[in-house]
Amino acid sequence: MATVPIPEPPRLPFIGNIADIDAENSIRSFKALTQKYGEIYRISLPGTSLVFVNTRELVDQACDEKKFKKVPNNVLQELKAGLGDGLFTAKLEAPNWGIAHRILMPAFGPIGIRNMFDEMKDIGSQLALKWARQGPHKRIHATQDFTRLTLDTIALCSMGFRFNSFYSDKMHPFVDSMTEFLLESGRRTQRLPLPAFLYQAKDKEFKAYIDVMRETADEVLKERIADVDSTRNDLLTAMLKGRDPVTGEKMSDQSIIDNLITFLVAGHETTSGTLSYAMYRLIANPDEYRKVQREVDEVVGKGPITAQHMSKLPYISAVLRETLRLDSPIALFGVCALEDTLLSGKYPVRKGEFVQCFLTESHLDPAVFEDPLVFKPERMLDENFNKLPKNSWKPFGNGARACIGRPFAWQEAVLVMAILFQNFNFAFADSDYELAHKQTLTIKPDNFFIRAILRDGQDAVELEHRLAGTEAPSRIKQKASSGDITPSNGTGGKRVTVLYGSNSGTCENMAQRLAMDAVSHGYEVKTLDCMDAAVERLPKNEPIVIITASYEGQPPDNAAHFVSWINSIEDKLALQGSSYAVFGCGHHDWAQTFHRVPKLVDQRLEELGATRIADIGFADAAGEDMFVSFETWEDSVLWPALDELRAKEGGETLQETKIAPLKVQVSNMRSSMQKNEVEEGKVIATRILTADGEPVKKHVDIRLPAGLSYRPGDYLTVLPVNPKNTVQRAMRRFGLSWDSTIKIEGAGTRLPTNELVPAHSILSGFVELAQPATRRTVLVLADEATNETERATLKILGSDNYDAEIIAKRVSILDLLETYPSIDISLGSFLTMLPQMRVRQYSISSSPLDDPTVASITFSLISSRANSGRGEYLGVASSYLSSLEPEDRLRVSVRSSHMAFHLPSTPEKTPLILVAAGTGIAPFRGFVQERAAMVQSGRKVAPTILYHGCRERGKDDLYAAELVKWEEMGAVTVRRAYSRKPKEAAGLGYVQDLLWADRENFMKMWRAGAVLYVCGSRRVSKGVEKIVKGMRQEDARVRGEKLGDEEVQKWWDEGRNVRYATDVFD
Ligand SMILES: Cc1cc2nc3c(=O)[nH]c(=O)nc-3n(C[C@H](O)[C@H](O)[C@H](O)COP(=O)(O)OP(=O)(O)OC[C@H]3O[C@@H](n4cnc5c(N)ncnc54)[C@H](O)[C@@H]3O)c2cc1C
Ligand code: HEM
Ligand SMILES: Cc1cc2nc3c(=O)[nH]c(=O)nc-3n(C[C@H](O)[C@H](O)[C@H](O)COP(=O)(O)O)c2cc1C
Repeated sequence: MATVPIPEPPRLPFIGNIADIDAENSIRSFKALTQKYGEIYRISLPGTSLVFVNTRELVDQACDEKKFKKVPNNVLQELKAGLGDGLFTAKLEAPNWGIAHRILMPAFGPIGIRNMFDEMKDIGSQLALKWARQGPHKRIHATQDFTRLTLDTIALCSMGFRFNSFYSDKMHPFVDSMTEFLLESGRRTQRLPLPAFLYQAKDKEFKAYIDVMRETADEVLKERIADVDSTRNDLLTAMLKGRDPVTGEKMSDQSIIDNLITFLVAGHETTSGTLSYAMYRLIANPDEYRKVQREVDEVVGKGPITAQHMSKLPYISAVLRETLRLDSPIALFGVCALEDTLLSGKYPVRKGEFVQCFLTESHLDPAVFEDPLVFKPERMLDENFNKLPKNSWKPFGNGARACIGRPFAWQEAVLVMAILFQNFNFAFADSDYELAHKQTLTIKPDNFFIRAILRDGQDAVELEHRLAGTEAPSRIKQKASSGDITPSNGTGGKRVTVLYGSNSGTCENMAQRLAMDAVSHGYEVKTLDCMDAAVERLPKNEPIVIITASYEGQPPDNAAHFVSWINSIEDKLALQGSSYAVFGCGHHDWAQTFHRVPKLVDQRLEELGATRIADIGFADAAGEDMFVSFETWEDSVLWPALDELRAKEGGETLQETKIAPLKVQVSNMRSSMQKNEVEEGKVIATRILTADGEPVKKHVDIRLPAGLSYRPGDYLTVLPVNPKNTVQRAMRRFGLSWDSTIKIEGAGTRLPTNELVPAHSILSGFVELAQPATRRTVLVLADEATNETERATLKILGSDNYDAEIIAKRVSILDLLETYPSIDISLGSFLTMLPQMRVRQYSISSSPLDDPTVASITFSLISSRANSGRGEYLGVASSYLSSLEPEDRLRVSVRSSHMAFHLPSTPEKTPLILVAAGTGIAPFRGFVQERAAMVQSGRKVAPTILYHGCRERGKDDLYAAELVKWEEMGAVTVRRAYSRKPKEAAGLGYVQDLLWADRENFMKMWRAGAVLYVCGSRRVSKGVEKIVKGMRQEDARVRGEKLGDEEVQKWWDEGRNVRYATDVFD
């Protein structure tokens, strides 16, 4: 076979490819290079060149120890400064490696590891007790606590030393020094070839980190030597007393210190990352989470966990394997060619050249793993795992130099998972958390916070007894019922629990509204929380109200565990004694799954024995009156049902009282604003994409907060700020000066309470000012109007004229306050009436291959004469985004789009058909940019065609110039329809017309396996569906087949998220 040169990104003189690698996040850079260059590429760094291999087949070849061996590569050379000739960094032929390897191997045998069980459990129990004592609301920094756990475990089990990390808020200095040492080791490999004195300060710091690590190792060693009576039989004993069976030599003092540090470093970072990723994957995958819990419940039950259980938890093992496949804490390991050789029989590698086995990519090889990005522990159960092609899964390295600590890590991880899932339920502390990675030498999830909620109604004392296997003394429980989730209003009425499932805030806002309304009905909401926080702890002694949405028929992010839990319960009486009512939000355009989740919850709770106290209520986001539907349900269904229940239970029915408004003290003293801890994005560039006089569409490039990454097709969520003009109107109406500060007092609100804050910032960033007033609010305002005529008008507006005059025209509370000046309400009442500010989402319109730290969005500015007739209507988020300029900061985060709305993993083979109208082009610009980057790097990609619906050539044909460039490169073919000038597009006004006209080509690509993506308004998506079904029927006719309407519908439905994916904005 002819040889094929290994692709190489263009390099600069002296520094080679340094500029291609982000020193702080090299893994991300290597990943981007893989996307651009494919299965193999070579980069050059000062003094070395590295070949990256990214598929199972190539990794398999590099794992052939006859042809390749581990020689410490550039990073390991730097690590040697701290780890010396320890096992990890030594050369294979170094005498110290052989001696230490042979002396220490037996300590990692089955008996050695089993002997460590009790000490591992001791530290695992410390972690569990810490989480139990902190309570269910604590935001737990998962990776930090797992690092405490793994550091303490390796130190105790292998050296008998206690770091006692759980007894201190700060991590042991060893951890900080080690982190900095690892980071700097990575950076040193990418130093520019400049005079050494320029690096003096950094070198000094580097040495100081090493000194701290060495001092720690010295301390451990001295403590052991001083303990002459020690009978421990651990790694350190082996190091001190063991003799190499081959040479008869003992380990030198230097080698002992080197290896102590090596074990402390290698033995905790990786396991901490593994546990953190496993926790992330399970919280993100509720069904797999339940399987873990079921396995622990069946195998261990409620008693103490023992060493015998360790081999009986195959599902946990599969979860850990699958976790390590998706995120290997050591993302690559390097080997060196012993001779000139050919990889895959075609890529020439020179003798002495380093080959990097890049697990981040080879573990996702679609030739081995179906749906490689999906978390599927089942594929890692023994029967499947053992059938994987050789070297498909390499998180522990290779051959003689594979991880010596693997059995240690495995027992520790399985044990800790068992302890945690036996005793806790978990939820993301931030329900929209998107996995971000932090890289040192290893990688770990970044900014990953969870909540840990004790199971079985236990408290920390009972947990302590369970873990120890001792009997808990019977005592009167101090705590409230199992439903003590978020303490809310404390008014002393009869209790109600309120739970919500919400992604974009509507249901959460309704839940809050309900909690506030409860007071006026004589109820007290002690528990106001997301549904996931209530898994296994639905109270029996108070009614529960659940408000939830659906997304593509699935639960919102913070309700997924709840739904998975109720679906998994088999005992038909499990929830007997609980009483509930459900309210559902949905959108009727999702016809097949309209209100699916609320209906499911309502039905399932009944099937499980709970009592429905009120009929389910619904709101449809297609209308403008969701809150009105909610209020109507509250007033006519929920409160009467609750009152009836209370009466049945012998309680008195209360006269309805008014909602206590928030108390607000206004002062003109300016407060010192606290620095906001939330990470922010930064605007880099903005541009208008449309011609003068056209409705404005804009492009904004945003530098993402550190650690965030994305894939083309994902969304950016933006927390907007109200338009200045609207805020000024509100300030004016309440007589506030621009620098007024306010102090809000009251319960059950998400506004900042009991601190001085600028009124301006509350009205700008915390509340929605432009939502239409609800019917009930209009009536409340009527009551507060002092002028009789105004009062009478408002009464009619709140009743007969409500739909036509308020909803249809989107009249806000502020509009009413301005129109009817006699309404006399306080600022506190006004704030009480307003919904909390919601995030908006935008499709990301860039590819990370262009710059992984930058994401762009493409949006239409909503700005036109207000339907209410009062001035101009400005969309909150779009006008905010439009006002931004370079250097401005904004709150953003990344949210994954549907799994199917991403690029296929085989760019060479899968053609793309992209259909968009207007700003619907956003995700496709990202898709095309990604494929263009691949083409530019010499990678072959399958054809892409983009159909775009615009109004007029040269006016709103967004990104025309870039698309021409990408067309010239062969990355895309663009076809446009012009609705205002159809003649310019061969009479094709709409994108659907264009598709139909091009159906021959469309069907050709479709048959070649193309994936179809549609983005824009629902109207466009419906239109495309109709056209494609028509094409399919025509195609069948031509072949002499008959395909009726029902059959074609079935064909279309089956292809959803397999052959096509749609994303709609409205
Ligand atoms: C999955 C998804 C992806 C999205 N991606 C994009 C994207 O890439 N680009 C993009 O531009 N948008 C996108 N959107 C829409 C985006 O999230 C916002 O909804 C949109 O920008 C409007 O937000 P806003 O805050 O500016 O308007 P809001 O303040 O929320 O106002 C919008 C409301 O105002 C009403 N309204 C409009 N004009 C008037 C008027 N004259 N008088 C009274 N009321 C009026 C509308 O009917 C609508 O109900 C996406 C939405 C989703 C769900
Ligand atoms: C899930 C957790 C772990 C993972 C993913 C992991 C991964 C790895 C990998 C990939 C290597 C090979 C590196 C290379 O080839 O350059 C390695 C080597 C090593 N690991 Fe681990 N490791 C883990 C846990 C541990 C633990 C708990 C210990 C100590 C008890 C440990 C000690 C070592 C040592 C000493 C080496 C060097 C072995 C040698 O070359 O002789 N590791 N590990
Ligand atoms: C991407 C997407 C998918 C949706 N899927 C459904 C669905 O399957 N069924 C449904 O009834 N509503 C669906 N909706 C509508 C939402 O459930 C509705 O807007 C709800 O009010 C959102 O509530 P939240 O703001 O509390 O998250 C969907 C909305 C979006 C943006």
